Amino acid sequence: MIDSKLNAGFNTQLNKEFYSAYLYFAMSSYFSGINMDGFAKYMKDQAKEELEHAQKIYDYMILRRFNIKLERIEEPDSDFSNALNVIEKAYEHEKFVTSEIINLSELSKEVKDYMSEIFLEDMIMEQAEEEDKFFKIYERIKYHEDCSSMTERIDAEFKNQG
Ligand SMILES: [Fe+2]
Ligand SMILES: [Fe+2]
Repeated sequence: MIDSKLNAGFNTQLNKEFYSAYLYFAMSSYFSGINMDGFAKYMKDQAKEELEHAQKIYDYMILRRFNIKLERIEEPDSDFSNALNVIEKAYEHEKFVTSEIINLSELSKEVKDYMSEIFLEDMIMEQAEEEDKFFKIYERIKYHEDCSSMTERIDAEFKNQG
């Protein structure tokens, strides 16, 4: 039998991944609205990745015969002021998600669910990359003497990426 607290925690994490996709779609649409098509594309790709995370968790839960409960997805933040502000919020969000997954991992240890522990270990390592990619963009914009030209340059880079 799956521990009920752990089961609930996985349902919450599943919801958070869908929420992350929502948030990144909101960010993508903000960029489309200000004609920063490179950033818009980049954030849409991030949203798609979050949907993949959700599917990965969903598949694992099905495999382990957890009870799936699809909870209401919260409305994402859509109050953005510029590219730096959006990327900072994305970075903060990833750090928050990391801490949530770590909490879930601790719970799986407590209830001695080793399979979940291993599954979550992978996700935690993936979070290191998730945090890093936003932090890099944040730093490039923030610590460049002319923020707007750096923003334009990154937008062009994203536009030309695959
Ligand atoms: Fe994710
Ligand atoms: Fe993420």
